[in-house]
Amino acid sequence: MQTVHSIAELRAQITAWKRAGERVALVPTMGNLHRGHIHLVEQARTLAPRTVASIFVNPMQFGPSEDFAAYPRTLDNDSRQLAAAGLDLLFAPDITDIYPRPLDEMTQVAVPGLPLVLCGISRPIHFCGVTTVVTKLFNLVQPDVALFGEKDWQQLVIIRRMAIDLDMPIEIVGVPTVREADGLAMSSRNGYLSPAERAIAPALYATLVSCAERMQAGERDYAVLENEAKARLTAVGFQPDYFEIRRADDLHRPALDDTGLRIFAAAWLGRARLIDNLAVPLG
Ligand code: PAF
Repeated sequence: MQTVHSIAELRAQITAWKRAGERVALVPTMGNLHRGHIHLVEQARTLAPRTVASIFVNPMQFGPSEDFAAYPRTLDNDSRQLAAAGLDLLFAPDITDIYPRPLDEMTQVAVPGLPLVLCGISRPIHFCGVTTVVTKLFNLVQPDVALFGEKDWQQLVIIRRMAIDLDMPIEIVGVPTVREADGLAMSSRNGYLSPAERAIAPALYATLVSCAERMQAGERDYAVLENEAKARLTAVGFQPDYFEIRRADDLHRPALDDTGLRIFAAAWLGRARLIDNLAVPLG
């Protein structure tokens, strides 16, 4: 595996591959990798002969009171995992390579509407930071296909919309969430959990599953289901941010005859804000 830190080195390698007619797959990450990320790389290798991953803790997607400074930087360990997974190229730029001017002087890419719900309510600048950095990574790497985890479903929907609206010739692939044996979705932020919190954490997924089962059994009073789920999470020690049933493709609130639904949850457990979601195909 080759590791490059500068845009010039990245472009030189990408140009060589493009000249040789080779397809390129991109897995953007912020590092502190877990098995979910490695699964993205494994999937990428099935989709293109050349695979690139980026590691960049993107300051533009963190709010002022969020964990940008504390976010674990584990480049050596991440590099070893990526090399073992058979990645071709790791791009790990410095902040000044990506943002040569102060953040508020940089051009931003914003998708309207979709970022205003779910995580966007408590993280109002987050998705604009994501779409801006992902656009830059797409321009730098020029991938044919880019892969994102379904745990961040709202992010996936927003990036898909951006790629369509801006005519980006890139296939956006969502990869199902990788879970621990007890159901907890793999996340870089699981490392913030104390042992006691880690024991409680699987209740988030269990609550999604039980809500989905009730919907599949015919319950349609979504407000009741959402409120009961939030009460259950609070009772075991979470501070719920949201628990909402929405349409999977456009994140709108569902009508009673909508079938492609997904349940979305975010909740605080100690200093970790955990998110998860689950598909509920009805009918
Ligand atoms: O999902 C993430 O890790 C980040 O939001 C991404 C897509 C790498 C952009 O910084």
